[in-house]
Amino acid sequence: MNFTILRYHSLESTNTEAAKQARLGAEEGLCIMARSQTAGRGRHGREWISTEGIGLYFSVVLRPRLAPKFIPLITLMAGVAVFDALKGYLSNPDIKWVNDLLVGEKKIGGILAETADTPSGLAVILGIGVNLKSKNLPLELAGSATSIEAETGKHVSADEFSEHLTGYLSYFYDMLGGENGPRDIVAEWRQRSSYYSGKLVTVVLAGGVISGVTNGLESNGALRVRRGDGSVSTIQAGDVERLRSELHETQAF
Ligand code: BTN
Repeated sequence: MNFTILRYHSLESTNTEAAKQARLGAEEGLCIMARSQTAGRGRHGREWISTEGIGLYFSVVLRPRLAPKFIPLITLMAGVAVFDALKGYLSNPDIKWVNDLLVGEKKIGGILAETADTPSGLAVILGIGVNLKSKNLPLELAGSATSIEAETGKHVSADEFSEHLTGYLSYFYDMLGGENGPRDIVAEWRQRSSYYSGKLVTVVLAGGVISGVTNGLESNGALRVRRGDGSVSTIQAGDVERLRSELHETQAF
């Protein structure tokens, strides 16, 4: 994939701008970056704090030629790409299903994939936020968020990080579109995430709460959770409101 990067000083949301450009005919690979966002969005309508200079705010237009059931794998593919970009700076990132990049239990990045109907078909807007610095992070996030600078003492600019990120995105997006793409991406995700299996979790869904131990992923990236009574629930990315790790170590029932 070829990337063209448009850089803005401030936008409401890079995802909103990328969706607008996609509707105007932007090709796959158009990237929108902003130094700050005035209405940055996280999943489930949450705010994504996007103060100037503290984070990477990046969105790319994709026009995937994938069977619709595999579209959720774009979030997992992006998790793998961000993980590898972080690995250039940190030894210990993790991916929490489905879209969180962590160091320990603290969040260092997140992914928001949205679809947009455009005259030339469905586009996916893949938005990525990475915490580069912790300075100016609101107090309420201090305990639950971290940044590359807080972890390493190194200042990394959004431009530098995006250069690594686009390299990995290109590699893993091509992999996803390959003959065994969905299987290959699930295998890559498995190698990087402590959430793939054996993690005791509580999942909050619109219709209730499920607690159990993670038990691998379905071919479309859905998470299997084995409950205490031995039954296995399959959780689709779109259904989960919150997923919490209950213990650090593997638990067997
Ligand atoms: C999450 O973890 O809830 C997802 C966070 C995604 C944030 C990024 S920042 C760039 C892009 N523009 C947005 O408004 N959101 C995404």
